[in-house]
Order: sequence, then structure tokens, then C-alpha cells
Amino acid sequence: MRTNYCGDLRKSDVGSAVHLFGWVQKRRDLGGLVFIDMRDRGGIVQVCFDPKNPELIARAQELRNEYCIEVHGTVRSRPENQTNEKMPTGEVEVEAEQLNIINKSAPLPIDLGNPDNSEDQRLKYRYLDLRRPEMAERLKVRSRITHLVRGYLDSKGFLDIETPMLTKATPEGARDYLVPSRIHKGHFYALPQSPQLFKQLLMISGFERYYQIVKCFRDEDLRADRQPEFTQIDIETSFLTAAELQEIVETMMRKLWQDVAGVDLGVLPRMTWDEAMTRFGSDKPDLRIPFEIFDIADIVKDSDFEVFKSALASGKGRIAAICVPGGADMSRKITDGYTEYIKVFGMKGLAFIKVNDASKGIEGVKSSILKFLTEDQVKAIISNAGAKSGDIIFIASGEKWKTVSEALGALRLKTARDRGLVEKSWKALWVVDFPMFEEADDGSITAMHHPFTMPKISKPEDLLNDPYSIYADAYDMVINGYEVGGGSVRIHREEIQQAVFKVLGITEEQQRVKFGFLLDALKFGAPPHAGLAFGLDRVTMLLTGTDNIRDVIAFPKTTAAACLMTGAPSLPDSSALNDLGIAVKETTD
Ligand code: AMO
Repeated sequence: MRTNYCGDLRKSDVGSAVHLFGWVQKRRDLGGLVFIDMRDRGGIVQVCFDPKNPELIARAQELRNEYCIEVHGTVRSRPENQTNEKMPTGEVEVEAEQLNIINKSAPLPIDLGNPDNSEDQRLKYRYLDLRRPEMAERLKVRSRITHLVRGYLDSKGFLDIETPMLTKATPEGARDYLVPSRIHKGHFYALPQSPQLFKQLLMISGFERYYQIVKCFRDEDLRADRQPEFTQIDIETSFLTAAELQEIVETMMRKLWQDVAGVDLGVLPRMTWDEAMTRFGSDKPDLRIPFEIFDIADIVKDSDFEVFKSALASGKGRIAAICVPGGADMSRKITDGYTEYIKVFGMKGLAFIKVNDASKGIEGVKSSILKFLTEDQVKAIISNAGAKSGDIIFIASGEKWKTVSEALGALRLKTARDRGLVEKSWKALWVVDFPMFEEADDGSITAMHHPFTMPKISKPEDLLNDPYSIYADAYDMVINGYEVGGGSVRIHREEIQQAVFKVLGITEEQQRVKFGFLLDALKFGAPPHAGLAFGLDRVTMLLTGTDNIRDVIAFPKTTAAACLMTGAPSLPDSSALNDLGIAVKETTD
């Protein structure tokens, strides 16, 4: 058994006999004197082989990068002129007395010293990529986070209870991954999008405080912060108000940040969804960016500009702007680029006002829509923006309030990132009071959170009149512009649950088929309950300073939901398909 990890050796270990296992990170042969950097999961230490021991030195000369070895030796101080401040172990080295080559290594297909290896190669040889200390460090932080979470929740009386992986669909807004049943031919299990319904049922069983660190599966378009299988810290409680639950989990997050990053997140401010969308064009506002969206409809209401007129005439539009500090130096190419950028968000165009010299009034201004604005309007916009000389104001206008808000919200993020205007700090908050329903892309009505969320109503009929005006008792925790967690107070009364299903167009028959077990359970003294789930991967991303979710998952999928290492997904054997009663159609293309 080893005595130490290589990376843990320090001055205080000088004189100790050590027994190490690990890999050769690098070998230097100085004509008879051999040094290696030896690596294990703890880090790297220099090992030297004494030329006076010919047998040992001969074996050391056989060493090549990534050989797996065992070393017995003694820790000694490095001579003063040979210490290496960049290495945590840089003051010491191990003088080897015995060397055992456990296993040789072929030359590696990726260069462990080069962080710029292509991501495809890194994913194909993931087990080698994870040898890089930087990658190993992230998984160590992840392990520390789950350890702290378990300890904290255990201390608060939460029980860790597992829920099934082979189950029925749970609507969280994505497609399900389906698993065919061999016994029930033609029937499928769904992998859980979350344990939502099971944790609610555990509350009805009386467990009162539940948690689980659990895999969830969602077949959805992937992004830098989304994986098809990801991990939630899933929590549910009974007999607590939303505020009481939030207090418990907020304390947990404060402890995590304190322990892992040495940062005090402070008491999280609360912002309603309406305010977040109005000021930041996002339900996960990044408060590190020092400018926000402001409305200018009142200022330009008499303008002849067709785009403004149609936004106003629609009665549901928005004319708003952001002011990017120091942005007046943007070239035409750059402003055109931003115009293209916001088209993706459904906008047709983007106007700008460059405040070159605020003291010169209209003379000091350059604008793409100057001919549509009076001098007073330009002045009022500049004054509302609080713009100074050198700033640029971007103006967007459209007939849909949400589209304009989200487009300006996205532009706010993009311009701030492009120009280095995102503060280096931690900004966490709760976003609360989400609308209960929203319009899906196909025009149908869907639940914004999920259909088990408690609407803020006094009686079930309130839901039926104008469902889009109803708010939900739902809350998200947002840190630095990432939605790290989300949850809600749940419906614990059958008639409210049925009314929500009805609004969503789920017939009584479909309700029985899909959610009969839940509706039945709600009949048997269901307690009031509330919960939430944090995305463990996102929390780890933030705490390890990466913006790529794949960096914090040992064996992640590509953005095309494939595993380049194992080759999953793959074609199954035809005999396996036969057993499942699945016929494969021959195609001839
Ligand atoms: P929600 O869908 O908001 O809520 O998910 C909770 C948190 O999980 C993380 N997350 C993801 N992380 C990585 N990849 C994904 N594809 C992905 N999808 C979600 C986010 C998110 O905040 N059952 C509810 C929770 C509840 O109401 O208790 C749920 O799953 O950080």
C-alpha cells in the first residue's frame, strides 16, 4: 500500500521513507543521472535515481512517459538553487531506492501537456484526458461538493431515498429516452427526466424531508451547460413554506461556496420573474454586468418610424434599449454583427446611437436612425440611458414584448462578454413568481415550470378564465447568469391538479392514463409540500471556473449526444431486437 500521494509531499516529510505508485509524467536523463516527474491523483513530485546504483539507474533509463511504476525511496530537500516554486512539492524530491515498472505505456494519442488537444480526441481517450491534473482537480471538487451536500442535508434530517430509473414519463419539457420492455412487447419504460412525481409520492408516504443525488435524462437540444444525462441534487419537504425551504437550501449553497471557493455569497436577493425579464431580458439574470434594459416607448411614441409605430400599435410590443459603456468605438462591421446576432432571437433589426461627445448635443451623436428622431428624443434617450461620451446605445423594437426583451437580454450578455464588462465577482439571487403557463412554439399552452406546481389562485376556477395571467409559486436560484436550481410549492389537492391538467388540454381520460397514480395518491391525505432541484453539474462548473459542462463530468456526451469513447449509441444485435419484438425496416438508400 502507498504511504503518500506524490503531490502531498512537503518539507515536513523530509527524511521519511515513502512508497509511491503512479505514472511517469516526464523523464530527464542528464547523462547517467535520471530524474522523473512522477504523478498520481494527488499531484506531481520529482524522483531522482542515483547513478551510483547501476542496476537502479539502468531500470530508470528504461522509463518512458506514462509508464505505471512503483517507487520506494526517501524524501529529501532539494538543493536551494533547484527548488521549483511553481510546484507545490517544489522544495523536495524523492531519492529512489527501488523502482518497479508495473506496466509499460504505448505513446499516448493525446498530449497531456497540451490543453489545446481537440475535444473529440480528448473525449475519445477520456480516461487519458482525466490523467491531466486540471481535469482530475475538477472531479475532486465535484466529489467534495457531493460530500458536503450529503453531510449538510443529513444534519438537517433529510433522508437519501432512491427512485426508479425505469419508469413512466415525467413531463419536464424535454423528450423522453425510452427503453423497450422485453416482457411487455411494444411497451416502453421512460428514463426519468427528474424524480419529480416519486419525490412527491414520498411526501404523501410521510418521509417529510427527502434528498437524492440522482441522474436525470432529457432528450433535448444540447448546449454548453446541458447534457442528455446530468445529475440533480433533488430535494423535497413537507409542511414548510417556500421561504422556509429556500432558507435551508440557501444556507447549503452559502456553505458550499464558502468551503470550496472561500467566498461569502451573502443573503440572496429576490427578484420577480416580471422584473428580471423587464430589466435583464432573462429569467436568469447575470447581475455582474453593469448595465440593464430600459424602455423608451414613452420617448418615441410620436415618432414616424414604422418599426416603432407597429410596436406601439400592437399593444403588446416593446421599444427598449441597452447602453454599452465605452462602445462608441464599435466599427460598422461589429454593429452589423450584433444586428445579425439578435435576428436569431426573432428580431428584424437593431438601431444604435453612438454618443461620441455628450457635450455637443446632436452634433456629437452618430445614429443609424437619426432621421427618425428629433433632437429632443435623442437627448431624452441619452439621458435615460445615463450615457456618457464614448458609450453606445442599442435600440430594439418589436410587436412581442418577450421577444424584444429576450433579444436585448442576449445582446446585453454578448456585448458585455465581448468587451470584458462582466465583473469578476459572485452574484446570486432568487427569481420568484414565474408565470404558471406560457405559449409553446406551436402556439399551445404549456406549464412554465411543470404541471405539478402550485398556481397562486384562491379557487380552481380562477385558472380557467385567463390562465396566462396566473402566477406560480415557483422559484429558481441563479448564480452569475446560470440557473443552478429550480423548484416550487406543489399542488397537494386533487381538484387543483385536475384543473391545471384541464388548462393544459389533458383530457380526463388522458389524466387517468398518464397520472392516475398521482391523482389517486392526492386523495389520501396528501400533505402540503415544496421542493427543488439543483443541477450538480452546473454548480460544479461554477465552482471550478469552467463554462463547459463536459469538463465536470467524467464521461460526458458530445453535443450530438454521443459517447466518442464507447461509440454509444450503437446498433443493437438483431437478436436483441427480436427478443424485444422490435422489427427493423430495411432501408435502401
Ligand atoms: P428543472 O427542470 O428546472 O427542475 O431542473 C433543475 C435543475 O437541473 C439543471 N438542469 C440541467 N443540467 C444539465 N443538463 C440539463 N439538460 C439540465 N436540465 C436541467 C438546472 C436546473 O435548474 N423536477 C424539477 C425540480 C423541482 O421542481 O423540484 C426539475 O427537474 O440546474
